[in-house]
Order: sequence, then C-alpha cells, then structure tokens
Amino acid sequence: MSFPTHRPRRLRRTPAIRSLVAETSMAPRQLILPAFVREGATANIPISSMPGVVQHTLDSLKAEAARAAELGLGGIMLFGVPAQRDAVGSGAVDPHGILNRAIAEVKAEVGDALLVMGDVCLDEFTDHGHCGVLAADGSVDNDATLEIYGRMAVAQAEAGADVLGPSGMMDGQVAVIRQALDEAGHQDTLIMAYAAKYASAFYGPFREAVDSQLKGDRRTYQMDPANRREALLEVELDLEEGADIVMVKPAMAYMDILADVAAMSPVPVAAYQISGEYSMIEAAAANGWIDRRAAIEESVLGLRRAGADQVLTYWAAELAQWLKEG
Ligand code: PBG
Repeated sequence: MSFPTHRPRRLRRTPAIRSLVAETSMAPRQLILPAFVREGATANIPISSMPGVVQHTLDSLKAEAARAAELGLGGIMLFGVPAQRDAVGSGAVDPHGILNRAIAEVKAEVGDALLVMGDVCLDEFTDHGHCGVLAADGSVDNDATLEIYGRMAVAQAEAGADVLGPSGMMDGQVAVIRQALDEAGHQDTLIMAYAAKYASAFYGPFREAVDSQLKGDRRTYQMDPANRREALLEVELDLEEGADIVMVKPAMAYMDILADVAAMSPVPVAAYQISGEYSMIEAAAANGWIDRRAAIEESVLGLRRAGADQVLTYWAAELAQWLKEG
C-alpha cells in the first residue's frame, strides 16, 4: 500500500497547529466603526433594516465613541442625519451642522484615543439625496460639487476630524479637498479616499439609516459593478491627487477588486463592509440559518485575507469585544 506523499491535513490537526500557521489575523486597531447621529434626537432611533444599529443622539454617540476607544478600535466614521435639507446641502458646510458638531463633540470626548473620521459627501444633506448639487438639466454637476466638498472638508477639519472620507465619487474630489485643507492650514488631516466605490444594491439599508431622500440611483457617478479595470484607474487618480489611504466599497462582492488594489497600492487599503452586507448576515443569523458570530468573523477575516489593511464594519465594536475575550 502506498501512502499519500503530501498530507496538508497535518497542519490542520489541532488548534495549536492551526494557530501556528494561520496567515491572516485581525486586531481591533484595524477596525473602524461607522456611526450615525441624528440632529435633534432625544433618544436613539433603531434602524429597522439594520438590527442592532441606531441613529444616535449626540450624547449616545459620545458614549459609543468612548467605548470604541476603550476597545482599541482604529476609528469611528461619522455620518450625520440633519433635521433640514436643501438643494445644495448647506448643513454640510455649517460649523453648527449636525455632522460637524458631532465631530467636535466626539473629538472632545476621545482626544487622541480614537481617530475621528467624517464622511465628506452631500447625500445626507441634500433634499434630492444626490451626492452632489444638480445642474439645470437635473444631472449631478461635478465641478460645482467640488467647490462645496472643499468647504465641507475644511469645516470637518476645523471641527477636529483626523481623517476625511470623501465618498461622493466626483472626479477630482481628492485634489480639491487636499488643496482646500492645505490652504486652511490642515496639512496633517488625512484623506481616506473612497477610491473604487460601486453603484451597489447593498447600500439599501443605509438609505434608511440616513433617511435618504434619493429617488433613482447613483449610476452616473458610482462605478458599474461590471467593471474591474476601471477600479485601478480610480485608485491611481486618487493616489495622484493625494489620497493617504484608498478604499474599496462594497467589500464582499468586490474581493477581486480589493485584491487587485492591494497588489498595486503603495498606500494602505481599506474595505467598507456596507449596510446590506451587515443586514444579510444578521437576517440569516436571526433565522437560525447561519452561526452569527462565526459568519461575522469569517466575513471580516476574508476581507483581511483579500488585502484589506483596515475594515469599516458595523460589527467593529462587537468584533473587538470578541477578540478581547479570545
Ligand atoms: C455616501 C455614502 C453611502 C454609504 C457610505 N457613504 C451611501 C451611498 O453611496 O449610497 C453607504 C454605506 C453603507 O451602505 O453602509 N454618503
């Protein structure tokens, strides 16, 4: 009888051996928690399409940030839900707008213990729900939007944001934001660019999370899910324009893109596991169809394996808690 020459199972036999040879790991410092804050809220409002995620009050957001810092998370990415909206998203550039206030209050709460990040995009602030302002013909006006992004970025930096996440997919947005920041004396504010961001059905639950006013879709500015090559162009442009970190979004249906970008990027690469990715795992787990904790851990570990240095995930705090408990 001849024996198999190779026995890969030998390295899988015990937990100690498996642990010795595990290629990928994750740590709380690599996880970023996205969080929503609602203007004027006096109590947290559950987001029904994202069980376990809420629209925070300013106070509960501060408590959440303090907890994130204590758990050793890398950062908290803030999204504002304003009480009023208009055609040009005025609330985004107003220092007293909900997002800028939240950045300032969270920063005052956590200091250097946690990186505070702001979403630089107009969709939460416009009454039509698009990521930019509209031209007379109803199309999203790229260059008119850039000017507002520059002011929005400066407002967030003045409020104390450490990292800005331009997510609107306007051409030239990173360059305009970098220049506006530098001119205002914020040379050290980091830009984590949503470089390859696709027009995805998986953003569905986020629309409820921010009370989005959008009718229609974002296909004239976010990327076509059919395209792979184009992601590399978007990343190259953002690098050229001064991005400090580049992001791929969504994550799980775009792991080929993540691997491509990780292979070519000279700067750190982040992946955003978005609302719909969160909700589908929660829904399956709630039905008893999958093991919740195992599925969550596997989903984020897979992103790390595909090349993500940082992962934005709504499970960041829970994952960090599990990592702590071992
Ligand atoms: C734009 C923005 C969106 C998300 C993050 N930033 C919405 C969109 O592009 O439609 C989605 C995040 C998620 O779905 O979890 N401000």
